[in-house]
Amino acid sequence: MIKFFDLQKINSAYQVQFQQKMDLVLEKGWFILGEEVALFEANFAQYCGTKYCAGVGNGLDALILIFKAYIQLGRLQKGDEVIVPANTYIATILALLQADLVPVLVEPNLQTYNLDPNLVTSKITPKTKAILAVHLYGQLADMIALSAIAKEHGLWLFEDAAQAHGAANEIGKAGNLSDAAAFSFYPAKNLGAIGDAGAVTTSDEAVHQMVMTLRNYGSEQKYHNKVIGVNSRLDELQAAFLNVKLPQLEADNDSRREQAKRYCTEINNEKIILPAWEGSKNHVFHLFVVRTENRGHLQEYLKAKGIETMIHYPIPPHQQEALPEWHSLSFPITEKIHQEVLSIPISPLMTRVEVDTIIHALNQY
Ligand SMILES: Cc1ncc(COP(=O)(O)O)c(C=O)c1O
Repeated sequence: MIKFFDLQKINSAYQVQFQQKMDLVLEKGWFILGEEVALFEANFAQYCGTKYCAGVGNGLDALILIFKAYIQLGRLQKGDEVIVPANTYIATILALLQADLVPVLVEPNLQTYNLDPNLVTSKITPKTKAILAVHLYGQLADMIALSAIAKEHGLWLFEDAAQAHGAANEIGKAGNLSDAAAFSFYPAKNLGAIGDAGAVTTSDEAVHQMVMTLRNYGSEQKYHNKVIGVNSRLDELQAAFLNVKLPQLEADNDSRREQAKRYCTEINNEKIILPAWEGSKNHVFHLFVVRTENRGHLQEYLKAKGIETMIHYPIPPHQQEALPEWHSLSFPITEKIHQEVLSIPISPLMTRVEVDTIIHALNQY
């Protein structure tokens, strides 16, 4: 069986270094917001090219804390509208709802699966205050066009970079292409912890300070609470593991792109639509997503050939049971994507033979 993503194999390469870090943290006896968190924040800010990084509990909290910080700073108000892609992962939407902001769903581009800048402008109302771009599957949204729209209409621009660590355009890297960005280090991400973890990157000192305060009970000084905060700190051990893995991220992303290049050039089957990618570093292939009319059939076919696949995602946010008020909405491009997408295995550690097997199976389909 070719696993969809072999997390055990990915992390076993770091086992000795992880153990050393664990011993070090245990020896120091400082488990909350210690040196490893501070080191990771400095390392990851430098990697992204931002002035600041705040380590938080997970990617969902990273998004929520950005919005809460903007509300606390008086830059956003509860009830403000925020433009988001209709086909995003549910966390993007939940973060806005939990910050009492109003998500305004916009159809993605069917080629890139990212927010379509041409459709964004028509959704801007006097209540619109921000655009939240999502770099879905690891490919940068069109941040240059979105930035121009945000500037023209006086909107904040944010990134949900949970799937796009290291993706870059001519301006910079994910996390440094907007006012503030959220990352997830969920274990299966391109940079994954071995538990939950997340971060907010920004070059805005006031936003950074507010996120740092909000994540820690709204407190800068122990037992003095400036604002109503939460407990969402990046765990010291997870930060230590991330410090071990971060130096490998660029090489891992290169390996993913190499594998994607093989898929894009060697899979030739008119029943299978490949990702639109021009070969640049704007994609880090967190996922390799193909589309086909009868997705269930293709998934069963690959399973019979010993190839595990996944669906990202089977149900769009506006059709989720949790959001009955959205069930009457219609987003034909989004719905088509959710009916047709299938993610095939991609990983820095897959062997040439495994990739050959997948290409062969897809060409024979
Ligand atoms: C696009 C997107 N946004 C947000 C999140 C939330 O991250 P987490 O699972 O760390 O809360 C994820 C990952 O799960 C994601 O893929």
